Amino acid sequence: MGENRDVETLLKKYNQEHIIQFINKLDNGKKVDLINQIQNIDFNQLTELYENTKRKVEIKENKIESIQYLDKSKLTYEEKEQFDKIGERVIKNGQYAVVTMAGGQGTRLGHDGPKGTFKLDVYGKGKYIFEILTENLKEANKKYGVIIPWYIMTSKENHEATKSFLEKNNYFGYNKNNVILFKQGELPLLDLNGKLLVGKDYRVKEASDGNGGVFSSLRSTGMIADMKERGIKWIFIGGVDNVLAKLADTILLGMTIDKDLQIGSKSVVKANPHERVGVFCKMNKHPKVIEYTELPKKMAEEVDSNGELRYGESNIACHLFSIDAIDKISKEVLIYHTAVKKNSYINEEGKEIIPDEPNAYKFEAFIFDAFDLFDNMAVLRVKREDEFAPVKNKEGVDSPKTAKELYEKFWNRQKS
Ligand code: UD1
Repeated sequence: MGENRDVETLLKKYNQEHIIQFINKLDNGKKVDLINQIQNIDFNQLTELYENTKRKVEIKENKIESIQYLDKSKLTYEEKEQFDKIGERVIKNGQYAVVTMAGGQGTRLGHDGPKGTFKLDVYGKGKYIFEILTENLKEANKKYGVIIPWYIMTSKENHEATKSFLEKNNYFGYNKNNVILFKQGELPLLDLNGKLLVGKDYRVKEASDGNGGVFSSLRSTGMIADMKERGIKWIFIGGVDNVLAKLADTILLGMTIDKDLQIGSKSVVKANPHERVGVFCKMNKHPKVIEYTELPKKMAEEVDSNGELRYGESNIACHLFSIDAIDKISKEVLIYHTAVKKNSYINEEGKEIIPDEPNAYKFEAFIFDAFDLFDNMAVLRVKREDEFAPVKNKEGVDSPKTAKELYEKFWNRQKS
């Protein structure tokens, strides 16, 4: 009873009284569940996040410059050799790990299951995305005589499905002890009036806290400690959905170390001013990616004296961090961005409502907001056709069809 009253007071304090009637209706087990869930919500943070939804993201152009980068295809033979050598040493010494961020919902793809379990129709038989990533890692292992530890970030929602898929497929032949799954954090959804939503399971609706949640969850799940124990010094962190991603690129690694930097990332030239990719720049002298959802139209279309897009270095979510950088970032709080999405919920009568229009705020941290904590970073421009084949949408651009074509073309080029 006491617990009930405490929760009621808490809910009233934060204008969430509508939840009380759900608590009162539930039988014991579910009631305890819901109360526990509410007690774990950081309402101060949530209030702040809701307040932020009313503020417009402001991007002040006068504080923005384009970023310096090196073009992989224009490196001299000597530069390439040097970077390769430095990078190789790290990998061969067992100091390199890979993190795949696979906690996204993959709603745009419309695949029922984690994105990594999607089968891309390549070379007749087809290959699962996780299978493609595994092949990439196995190739690196063979080349450098090591087994690269592979950490996979899942979400509460897709953890079990990811785990059982990998088990069922025997980790596609990867050494099982070196595939480590960890769950990312979640944040409650809020309706457009700042109210918590309750799902038909009578739990407050929550969703993954964005791929920027990778740092805090690496810490809270003990992965940073695990990496340190294994002697890991450099960590590649990439999205799950790029089937041409080079997971162990000695050039990116060597270049970042050679320049005495703690973070590195890859870019490709933006295909058109409105391609849905984040773009690199420097803001207030710090490296940054401005996400496509927040890039002002004018900036997106701006060209330099060579007629090239001024903000044309696009993020392909292939990032590299030193363990010290990860350690540092994981203790900081990254900003949250807001997206408005469609989410079902139950109304006061307990009836499920499936909205036709976006009805809920989702709060997401972005991995690249961590760049701002550093003065500089290494950016390596790579060839799109060699390293970027994203699987995002069901049809059209960045779809299974385009990714298949890019993947097969790339591998046919390697064979010829
Ligand atoms: C992302 C980049 C964008 C870049 C594009 C290239 C971010 C925020 N945006 O866009 O700048 O140009 O890729 O393809 O990085 N994920 C999680 N947990 C989450 C949310 C996402 O693990 O809570 C993972 C996804 O599984 C995916 C990756 O993060 O692997 C990026 O997903 P998403 O947030 O959908 O960003 P994009 O719109 O794909």
